[in-house]
Amino acid sequence: MSDYAPSTEFADQAVGKAGLFDEAAADHEAFWAARAHEYVTWSKDFDTTLDWSDAPFAQWFVGGELNVAYNCVDRHVDAGNGDRVALHFVAASGEGRSISYADLQREVAKAANALESLGVAKGDRVAVYMPMIPEAVVTMLACARIGAPHSVVFGGFSAEALKARIEDGEAKVVVTSDGQFRKGKAMPLKTAVDKAVPGTTAEKVLVVQRTGIDVDWDDSRDVWWHDAVDGASEEHEAQPHGSEHPLFILYTSGTTGKPKGILHTTGGYLTQCAYTNSVVHDVHPESDVYWCTADIGWVTGHSYIVYGPLANGATQVLYEGTPDSPHQGIFWEIVEKYKVSILYTAPTAVRTFMKWGREIPDKYDLSSIRVLGSVGEPINPEAWRWYRDVIGGGSAPIVDTWWQTETGAIMNSPLPGVTALEPGSSQRAIPGIHAEILDDEGQPLTEPEQVGYLVLTKPWPSMLRGIWGDPERYKETYWSRFGPKYYFAGDGAKYDEDGNIWILGRVDDVMNISGHRLSTAEIESALVSHKQVAEAAVVGASDETTGQAAVAFVILREHGESADAQGDELVTELRNHVGQEIGPIAKPRSIMVVDELPKTRSGKIMRRLLKDVAENREVGDVSTLADSSVMSQIKDGIDKPSSD
Ligand code: WT7
Repeated sequence: MSDYAPSTEFADQAVGKAGLFDEAAADHEAFWAARAHEYVTWSKDFDTTLDWSDAPFAQWFVGGELNVAYNCVDRHVDAGNGDRVALHFVAASGEGRSISYADLQREVAKAANALESLGVAKGDRVAVYMPMIPEAVVTMLACARIGAPHSVVFGGFSAEALKARIEDGEAKVVVTSDGQFRKGKAMPLKTAVDKAVPGTTAEKVLVVQRTGIDVDWDDSRDVWWHDAVDGASEEHEAQPHGSEHPLFILYTSGTTGKPKGILHTTGGYLTQCAYTNSVVHDVHPESDVYWCTADIGWVTGHSYIVYGPLANGATQVLYEGTPDSPHQGIFWEIVEKYKVSILYTAPTAVRTFMKWGREIPDKYDLSSIRVLGSVGEPINPEAWRWYRDVIGGGSAPIVDTWWQTETGAIMNSPLPGVTALEPGSSQRAIPGIHAEILDDEGQPLTEPEQVGYLVLTKPWPSMLRGIWGDPERYKETYWSRFGPKYYFAGDGAKYDEDGNIWILGRVDDVMNISGHRLSTAEIESALVSHKQVAEAAVVGASDETTGQAAVAFVILREHGESADAQGDELVTELRNHVGQEIGPIAKPRSIMVVDELPKTRSGKIMRRLLKDVAENREVGDVSTLADSSVMSQIKDGIDKPSSD
């Protein structure tokens, strides 16, 4: 039994009530139609709630038309809330600037006009490669306004990774900044764009001057934001777009070396983002200050910084910096200063704060906090309790939200005013969502503690509509394992005896590092693209802080030289090479140079055995190996794993 039932005070004021479960159970489509009308302003009402006749290609709110930017900005001004702060922007330096909904309306209109003057029209793709600055949010909303799908690429990805995404999405314009602040220093950003763009479809590069560092400039291609946007007209008419018009593409890692461009569309996505932000985060737009610490380069930033909270007219903090700079108390300084009442962050951050010690947050007044959220990976019960006690004053409900880039919005989570919390579990599907756990044969599990696969059994409004340019991969990846109507999430899961769902991590070759998704295959192909590497195998090993960490095993090309002779220098070079090919977040924690990799007789690398080594476990069953001595060779060779 849970010790964490909601207090009556909290339950009384909560947006999401228990009745939502009954309403959703009574009629799935009617429930979502009601949410679509409650949370979204439609220029033209829809006539069909769900068309699932072409499964797995869903259409939601068919016939409806809306403009997402109008919903996230203009309608709040029209309702008389133009003076409400939309964004408390906190720069990396700690300096703050508040942007009202009326300000945001002007900025989005100007940016939309500027993008159009650069040739962007409805349907064109715009790549966004920017730090966490207001212009990034403005750019996304301006694209939504025009109906030009954005493709945001995390600023930590390399030029190569950016190029691949520009090419795959055939972006017409790239929006970036000269540089970005990292731990007090101005670092280049546009240089990666300069490397990525040549030879692609991108015709123009729009550049925000953020740091003032020197940049190379191509007059025929590059345009300063302050030249194009600042003088543009503040009037821009928001045209309605069809409910199924593409809103954005966001790349995420799959089980192959090629990232998947996850496609999201307009009406269903906005409905579920706004609804979940309202009932799960319990946002009261008139009084709350909400802060989601994600980067806009990930889906959490899309759904819970840009679209959900702004559709709800919330006031939020947008923070440019990192948790450790200018000092380790910066998060709590921000919470105190802006009286943040809802904080949504990742378990890896919580574990880092734990490691730094409670003396740091204890120095600040965190009494404004009333809801805490967790996202991206399972939160271990110890971190959960620390989060609740130290940050949540021992009383704030924690909403542990399970979802994915593909699901677009929160799927499993407690409702903070209804659910008795269970630390470490994201508990149940929220009202309107249907999740089950299936065994290998596709039969639903009925007993607690049996391990199976998490599936979603009914379509939901913010579901992905496909993989950009690859409908076959879409069907194969998500709808074939238990298909054709059950969505396979790729996560292992079990029930406890109270019926709570526990997510046990990925069952495919996808790793979750600090809540960021990376594929073993992507890092392997980065490694083998180095001239000295003949073969590589990457596994996700458990890590105390980051959840998982990438551990690589490589075989070198020059068999003449022994691994030791190449030593640390080569390992450093290989790590940097991965940083260049993908981005610093993909650098393996350690790289072990080995003579052989464990393979089955058919040549498949047995990652399970490598995982045992990487996690310092007794190596499991080696009977299917082609050469059973390989594992002992590897173990002998890597008693001192190299890392930095
Ligand atoms: C994978 C999705 C959700 C947006 C950020 C990550 C894992 C996510 C939880 C949670 C346990 C979680 C799953 C999922 N995951 N949230 N609350 N508890 N696991 O999005 O990069 O698409 O990764 O993150 O393994 O499949 P993503």
